[in-house]
Amino acid sequence: MADEGGSQLVGKSGGIVIPDDWPGYPLELFSYPEHYSPEDLECVYIPHGIIMDRIERLACAIMDDLGDHDIVLLCVLKGGYQFCSDLVEFIKALNRTSDKSLPMRVAFIRLHSYLNDQSTEDLHIVGAEDLSTLRGKNILVVEGIVDTGKTMKALLKHIEIFQPKMVKVTGLLVKRIPSGMETLPDYVGFEIPNRFVVGYALDYNEYFRDLSHICVISDTGKKKYKI
Ligand code: HPA
Ligand code: MG
Repeated sequence: MADEGGSQLVGKSGGIVIPDDWPGYPLELFSYPEHYSPEDLECVYIPHGIIMDRIERLACAIMDDLGDHDIVLLCVLKGGYQFCSDLVEFIKALNRTSDKSLPMRVAFIRLHSYLNDQSTEDLHIVGAEDLSTLRGKNILVVEGIVDTGKTMKALLKHIEIFQPKMVKVTGLLVKRIPSGMETLPDYVGFEIPNRFVVGYALDYNEYFRDLSHICVISDTGKKKYKI
């Protein structure tokens, strides 16, 4: 990967590289909800403020590339809701202040593929809106995390059925996994090592979505919230 020597901070995805040896920050240096105990989490991996600053920059890149086109943001629930919401806010701010503007609609699709920290092979699309409204549209798929890329691949194949005009993808996080992904999202926030992360709407069995920072869950946390 682009991380040889640990000094390369921008990955080939264009995202910020979090290196394999990044220890994160001790939890006690940040605030987090009382209902999670310090044993549940190993560290704060990406603090909320850095996530927000990075999304602001992604919004600028999206505006530069797609400004003056109509787009439909297709938010992949549930893990993508916070990213999608903050991305929309930053694009709205740019719409007020820059000379370009990007008319947006938002659509939602809900996918299930994880139990505990394991990907289950099959993609379940649950409670999708009628995606025939995507026909002929410019679509930006908004994903919280892309890891094996299987889910994304299956989703893109599914979207193609509805004959959109253009499909782009943004992923806040992309995992570096040896078997790798064939196609990277067009707009990537961070490239992270293959560790299970939670927070900022990413869950472990539905827990931790209400954590603002992206954190690494500990083995104790995994046992405690295992199904
Ligand atoms: N955390 C939460 N959800 C996920 C992850 C992860 O690391 N990878 C794929 N879905
Ligand atoms: Mg999940």
